[in-house]
Amino acid sequence: MTKPVSRKPGKKGHGDISVKNSSKKRASKTQKAHQYQQEKSQKWTVVFAICCLLVGAVAVALYIVPTIHFALKDNASSKKDFQEQKRAFKDDGVDRKNKKGREKSTGSPVQDLGPEFKDFKLSIQSKLKIKNIKENDHEMIIHELKHDNPKSSVHAYIVENFLSDVECDGLMMVHSRHVSELNKQVPIICFDSLKSFREYLKDAKLKIKVSPNDFTRGTTCINETFSAKLQAHFKWSYSTAFYPGESKFSTLFADKIQKATGLKVENGGKFQITSYPQGVGYKNHTDCIVNHPDKRDRYATVLVYLRDVEEGGETEFPLLGISVKPRKGLALIWNSMNSRGECDPFSLHNAAKVIKGHKFIIQRWYYYHNFPSLGRRPQEPLLPQRMANQPRVSCDEYEQGSCRWYDEWNYDHLLDYTANLQNLI
Ligand SMILES: *[C@@H]1O[C@H](CO)[C@@H](O)[C@H](O)[C@H]1NC(C)=O
Ligand SMILES: *[C@@H]1O[C@H](CO)[C@@H](O)[C@H](O)[C@H]1NC(C)=O
Ligand SMILES: *[C@@H]1O[C@H](CO)[C@@H](O)[C@H](O)[C@H]1NC(C)=O
Repeated sequence: MTKPVSRKPGKKGHGDISVKNSSKKRASKTQKAHQYQQEKSQKWTVVFAICCLLVGAVAVALYIVPTIHFALKDNASSKKDFQEQKRAFKDDGVDRKNKKGREKSTGSPVQDLGPEFKDFKLSIQSKLKIKNIKENDHEMIIHELKHDNPKSSVHAYIVENFLSDVECDGLMMVHSRHVSELNKQVPIICFDSLKSFREYLKDAKLKIKVSPNDFTRGTTCINETFSAKLQAHFKWSYSTAFYPGESKFSTLFADKIQKATGLKVENGGKFQITSYPQGVGYKNHTDCIVNHPDKRDRYATVLVYLRDVEEGGETEFPLLGISVKPRKGLALIWNSMNSRGECDPFSLHNAAKVIKGHKFIIQRWYYYHNFPSLGRRPQEPLLPQRMANQPRVSCDEYEQGSCRWYDEWNYDHLLDYTANLQNLI
């Protein structure tokens, strides 16, 4: 076979210079045939190449692009789910601190995605729609607490007798029983950092040197022996929680809130009962995170005082000039984010120390964007390891000492609640 490598198609061959004159004609004929065949095969090559390109393009369009797309989508959604889980964990584990503190949380997030992801519907809460409501023939009047800070988007309201005495007493009783049961054991005390641990020790006038080795491996918690030693020197508030649907009361309460405020049932999280003994308060904080793009954040808070406090225990908004004195059954409702879903720094508030008495509240946070694990009882964090019924205390971001005892992964309190249900509704 001749190999006219450089011959261009359609051009007469001048190659094969070795071909002798005598056979020129025959040679030329053969050459022509060759050329023809070659041109033909080149045509087919071109057609074949075009076909290949077309098939390739179709394959890319039909298969590869969607595959990459799905891969990316998969990645994005699983990342999102993971973040939601992580977030839910933090939400239901330690109380909201600022952004920095919240990044450091002990324990691992719940990894397996539950059925709540299947029927999830996004719901956005960007407005309060305040309305007086009627209950048992008496009207609940909602009053706005005016403030004079024009830069703030916060609206705060109070409602007298939002919960009845019977409801308040029942909630306090189940919380107190739960706390006293768990208080029979030494709590595990956790600090968000070595720095705040040192601050707490300084505040308690304890001259103890601490190092990272004092934390139990994989946590920022100190061990039981060390916790027992420090227990008497620290003060804290107590939190227990129940979740939507876990009791009839949660449904009644959530419906009533929706009627009075427009806060949607499905945008609400847990119902957290907190008590503050004498001498205990809670530092300045915002319920949402300032300058954070995530809209799955606390849009509004509903807080109901379950008893009067003789002295102290006010909920104070220092940047709005608002201070609310606890009164049994009184609800305090405010938004912490504006209608665009941005956290308003003027929503800063604190719980003033209880000077005389004992303060009890129940609160529920409502989120700007809901998310699948919102309002679902989370799994108990793996770390720190604790004994059954062993409480845990979180002392975070030192600011005049704000430790809180948590047991929000436990059903005991709900069982108690159910046993006492007849007293509550
Ligand atoms: C998906 O995420 C994994 C781990 O985060 C990463 O290694 C991989 O490259 C990502 N895939 C795509 C298609 O982005
Ligand atoms: C607990 O922590 C203290 C202080 O770091 C340490 O001295 C002690 O050995 C620890 N005890 C146990 C049982 O791990
Ligand atoms: C809270 O913040 C305000 C305003 O920044 C400040 O004046 C006040 O002392 C703080 N209160 C507490 C309890 O930290």
